[in-house]
Amino acid sequence: MKHHYLTIALISACLTSPMAMADAKKDADMLKLASTSGCMTCHGIEAGKPGPDGMKPIGPAWVEVAKQYKGKPGASEFLTRVVLEGSNPYSSHWKGKVSGLSMPPNAVAITEGNARLLVNWILAL
Ligand code: HEC
Repeated sequence: MKHHYLTIALISACLTSPMAMADAKKDADMLKLASTSGCMTCHGIEAGKPGPDGMKPIGPAWVEVAKQYKGKPGASEFLTRVVLEGSNPYSSHWKGKVSGLSMPPNAVAITEGNARLLVNWILAL
């Protein structure tokens, strides 16, 4: 009888953990990509963290970005373009919510494919 419990426990562990492990690896990979591409100088993942000198954060927290755009058609393509080309300070999308006026073009720091990967990960946060 004891063996049955063990077998069941092992089977359920095998069924659930590969997925969780894949998620954790993806998160770690995406965080590394974001850090090496310079995104984390201006962005945080979680909301509510103040920016330098206690000001508003420079760029929006990525959970807020997800909240704002999740499920909107074309969001992935739109945000990939904004990340690569930067945003216009005269038509700020996050006016009043962040201390940065606009995002500089990141195409110097990240490839289009990697920008799309990051944006899709952000949208799923
Ligand atoms: C120098 C600071 C800075 C860096 C570096 C930076 N961002 Fe931003 N980001 C901003 C600011 C400021 C905004 C808000 C722009 C606005 O209000 O329109 C923003 C907005 C965004 C948005 C939302 C765009 C929108 O139109 O709503 C995404 C997604 C984003 N950044 C992702 C990234 C990624 C990915 C990287 C790294 C490749 C990155 N950012 C690097 C400052 C930065």
